[in-house]
Amino acid sequence: MEPDADLGTLGFSSIQGMRLIQALETSFGLKLYASELAGRRSLAALVDYLAGQAPEASPVWPPSSMTATSAEAASPTRGERLVFILSAPRSGSTLLRVMLAGHPGLFCPPELHLAGFATLAERAAELDGGRAFLGEGLTRAVMELQGVDAEQASASLTAWTAEGRTVPETYARLLDLAGGRLCVDKSPSYGTDGAVLARLARWFPEARFIFLTRHPGAVMASLVDNRFDRMLGLAAADPWAAAEQTWQTINHNLLAFSATVAPERWRRVAYEDLVRAPEPAMRGLCEFLGLDFDPAMLTPYAGTRMTDGLHAESLGIGDPNFLHHQAIDPALAERWRAQTGRRIEFSPNTAALAASLGYRLAETLPLSPAQQRFFTHHGDAPEWSIVQRVAVETAEPLEPARFAASWRAVLSRHPQLSIRFERAADGWAALAAEPGEFAVEDIDAAHLAPEAWAPMAEETLAAYHRALSVGRWPLLRVGLARRGEGRYEVLWAVHHAIADGATTQLILRDVLAHYHGGTTAIGQAGEFAAYCGTLAERFDAAEQARQKAFWHGHISGRSLILPTDFPENPGASQYAAEREWAVDVYLDREPGGAVTLYEACALALYEALAKWTGAEAVPLAQRYHGRDLGEWGSFPGAVGNLACDYPLVLRTAAARPWAERAQDLRAALATLPRRGTGYEWLAEAGRVPPVESIAPVRLNFQTGFSWRGAGHRATVLSTRTRQPDDWQRPYALDCIARWEGRSGRLLIRYAENLHTPDTIREFAGRWRAGLLACLREGG
Ligand code: A3P
Repeated sequence: MEPDADLGTLGFSSIQGMRLIQALETSFGLKLYASELAGRRSLAALVDYLAGQAPEASPVWPPSSMTATSAEAASPTRGERLVFILSAPRSGSTLLRVMLAGHPGLFCPPELHLAGFATLAERAAELDGGRAFLGEGLTRAVMELQGVDAEQASASLTAWTAEGRTVPETYARLLDLAGGRLCVDKSPSYGTDGAVLARLARWFPEARFIFLTRHPGAVMASLVDNRFDRMLGLAAADPWAAAEQTWQTINHNLLAFSATVAPERWRRVAYEDLVRAPEPAMRGLCEFLGLDFDPAMLTPYAGTRMTDGLHAESLGIGDPNFLHHQAIDPALAERWRAQTGRRIEFSPNTAALAASLGYRLAETLPLSPAQQRFFTHHGDAPEWSIVQRVAVETAEPLEPARFAASWRAVLSRHPQLSIRFERAADGWAALAAEPGEFAVEDIDAAHLAPEAWAPMAEETLAAYHRALSVGRWPLLRVGLARRGEGRYEVLWAVHHAIADGATTQLILRDVLAHYHGGTTAIGQAGEFAAYCGTLAERFDAAEQARQKAFWHGHISGRSLILPTDFPENPGASQYAAEREWAVDVYLDREPGGAVTLYEACALALYEALAKWTGAEAVPLAQRYHGRDLGEWGSFPGAVGNLACDYPLVLRTAAARPWAERAQDLRAALATLPRRGTGYEWLAEAGRVPPVESIAPVRLNFQTGFSWRGAGHRATVLSTRTRQPDDWQRPYALDCIARWEGRSGRLLIRYAENLHTPDTIREFAGRWRAGLLACLREGG
């Protein structure tokens, strides 16, 4: 066969054309439309076209007269039995049509594309050649109504056309043939032109309209994947832009049109609801149409519902992918997000229109349980941050621009550092932010004495804290202050919603390692998402029940009452006015005997509390970084907010040797499900009491405040949280033990309205003495 031979004269039929389209899709995944074949008369022309995939020069859809105002035609029906499904293409309209087709009271043919024309003759003239496929729905409808084949139905339509039948008369005829049924026309072309919609309402003042919406990202992805710009012949350079325009124009027109239609004749349905909860969606539509619900509507692939084409070999009319599925597939509501290979950009107009239809466009990210708790407790005033002063000594001077570049490298490595939060009706959500320029403030403090610098540093930190807002990226602020030759101080504030104590260390170590070594070595980028994914999958109802049973056994009847120095104080049940007391500890030898530093800190605290309260079994809240989930996996490099608290009850018998008590502590810890990480999530759900209601004292054991890396040595000088002024402390005493080598600091944050400084000093002294005794004896 000659490449240039005319395919028509060789007898290439429309059926062979359909086979070619199917073969191209099966072999190459390429969706070709009949309109694209029609203009290519030879094999050479077709090959050229396929190789270049040049857009069509003139649009085939919607046909020009559908967008122009055709002559008016009087209507013989008020349309009380007419229903129009209006939507952008790729909104799931074929699925909805076929679902409705299961109802015996409804006649639901494939897309009729009638209303854009005044007469059948006008329609026939427009829908020929490359646009003939748009005419097939009406032929299929006539086949069904008259029980005839495609040729006979075409002959009927030719006769109606010759008789000069108008479009309203054609609808009236279809209604007659449909018996008492309602006739549903789903034609995505109508929404492209407000004039067509207005004419529908004039012709059929009693018709009803179903407005089917779908997330613009899903519609755009489907239009692009299915090469609709080619089928529609849109000469746009960017198929995404064309797709967005299609979604926007149609939905805008439909929303505007809805304002002109009486509410009882207008019903909006979201595709996402249709596929996720088909039954309520269909019951709602039945009620709207005045029909009883019929379960056949939930099984769109059962029976024959005009999902075939005109001939045995033809493609179906409407969604070319409909028959690739076997059931309503709820996964299709979200699948486009994973498949799109690129982040879809939306214009502000699209975002605004989508919002008015109830779609939030920015992508939401999973929240860790710690973040969920954070927003439950602080959602009305969520401006909390962790602020730090860190001394850095370097062999070479730090270059501020390069230092800022290292921060940017670490920020781009950890998704949690490129997010912001938004509050919607269903609560707070994390969204991927559009990161802008990240700057590090350059501060010259080289000549300031420590007394002059300290208040300035505090003021800078306060300003950084105030600059953070949960809804706005970035959720951290950084300054680099020069303090002298090779001596710097990093000042920074990071929002608590994206960071816990462990995260601050991961970030700082990563930044300094990047600066000196050119790589970020510590935090693994995907660990936070993996952690959230593991929990979402594993912390199921059975696991929750197991953990709840454990905790009820562990804590039953053991809540600790702390004596107060001000029993007469009416505010004594609330811990306000935070004060801090600190004692330093210096060990005369390296820790690391039979009892670890953590064990010594904890055991001494249990003993001090037992003496103070007289309790024999003491519950103590333990702050845990939360990254080790036992056999579920460990996420030591997860950057985000993961920390949690759990209550650990220990029996303390002062007579027992410290080494044995350490064994008791280890044994108790070993029994905890998932190392205690589930407790606060269960408390959140009201299944166990809040930690602080059982254990009003918390131990927060921290190490690693100083490290040496290539070319630098860093020491954390101070870490604090800043929170709104009216914040209520959850714990009566926060006992923080910070260690660096042999130096330790025991910090007690307490409420001034509950305890006097003398009481706290005495308590801290007992804690310190017990700690030293434990290390001496146990080490
Ligand atoms: P994709 O095939 O690109 O996913 P329309 O009929 O309005 O053109 O919409 C087509 C879209 O309807 C399809 O686009 C698909 O997402 C959705 N759809 C088709 N069949 C479906 C099914 N069985 N379950 C869920 N969604 C379906």
